[in-house]
Amino acid sequence: MQLIPSILVTGGAGYIGSHTAVSLAKAGFRVVLLDNYSNSDVKAVHGVRSLINADVPFYEVDCRDKDALIDVFRTEQEMGHEIKGVIHFAALKSVGESVENPSLYEDNNIVGTERLLEVMREFDVENLVFSSSCTVYGEPEVVPVDENAPFLEAESPYGFTKQACEKLIVDHLKPNPEFNAVILRYFNPIGAHPSATIGESPNGVPNNLIPYLCQSVAGIRGALQVFGTDYPTPDGSCIRDYLHVMDLAEAHVSALEYLFKDKLRGKDTGWRAYNLGTGKGASVLEVIEAFEKVTGRSVPYSIAERREGDVVAIWANASRAKDELGWEAKRSLEEALNDSWKWQKKRPDSQ
Ligand code: NAD
Ligand code: UFG
Repeated sequence: MQLIPSILVTGGAGYIGSHTAVSLAKAGFRVVLLDNYSNSDVKAVHGVRSLINADVPFYEVDCRDKDALIDVFRTEQEMGHEIKGVIHFAALKSVGESVENPSLYEDNNIVGTERLLEVMREFDVENLVFSSSCTVYGEPEVVPVDENAPFLEAESPYGFTKQACEKLIVDHLKPNPEFNAVILRYFNPIGAHPSATIGESPNGVPNNLIPYLCQSVAGIRGALQVFGTDYPTPDGSCIRDYLHVMDLAEAHVSALEYLFKDKLRGKDTGWRAYNLGTGKGASVLEVIEAFEKVTGRSVPYSIAERREGDVVAIWANASRAKDELGWEAKRSLEEALNDSWKWQKKRPDSQ
């Protein structure tokens, strides 16, 4: 009997995947990483190996390549490490790029998920954790938003792929009653591993607030533009629920343990979605202020026009994750911003 379950982490060289791999290993899982390096590189894999202090297997594979996926599952099986669960992070995630090239996003994210589900079925792998996003809710009518909020029309092709993948997973369950899935809807992950060995490394000019802010403070970019201060919020800037990536990583451990525990009880759980956030909103101007306070560095910024497609205010009701998975975010916004800054200072392009 296999004592240490092997978990395949697709997108394992990416931002959230690499941090999750570390938390999984610390929790006693054996981790197998897979990535096509379309938005990452081998440095994150080295970082994971050094933090885990073990030679984590890595496969350079595209999730749309079914034969290559089959090879991964078979190779691990032949080595006596049958894969028992999959965490599926692999996806393209740039909202703007998805608007310019929707078919790329549909192909990469939806076809990649379809192929993975097919191969999981061939190898009788019954446990899946899927990376979804609060983008599935669009502009919510009520905040904090809970998991029963309706899916509104997707704001972008990227958001559409998340809605479509959630549906694919639920549909996959009908003919596969043994299959179990936890769908995790992330709010806004920020921060880095506290050792600054791994972190977020976006290619090119960052679209997201924290990587841009850090690069701006490091002098790599111009002043941060605050996209709109005329919204109906207390200080006029948009509100989000920023959570530390290590809290997010640990939520995946809780989700897997939940799946495995349920299996042990011989129950068929089907699927369940969970919001992952802190339950607290912070505005863009509050984030700037918190960053300055915790790092002692001033943020160069100017007020700019609203960015098209931005949701005004969203934060999570994450009580379901607390009640059922036993998970809640523990780290503060300040700690997350400090860890983002520590990571930025260590990156070669920050010199
Ligand atoms: P990331 O780009 O850092 O990581 C994704 C990884 O998947 C990358 O390493 C990329 O090379 C890889 N990848 C992409 N397509 C692939 C394919 N077809 N085959 C194999 N590998 C592929 O992004 P992240 O921030 O770590 O996001 C991970 C997941 O979480 C994604 O599904 C994303 O949509 C979701 N998510 C992210 C956020 C966020 O703000 N970061 C919010 C909500 C949801
Ligand atoms: N912002 C700025 N200036 C910038 C960048 C962002 O003011 O240079 C503002 C945005 O207008 C928004 C807030 O900072 O009000 C957060 O923006 P991000 O781009 O960091 O994050 P979003 O909430 O827009 O979207 C992110 C991911 C999506 C994901 C969503 C929910 O980019 O893929 O979180 O998880 F779907």
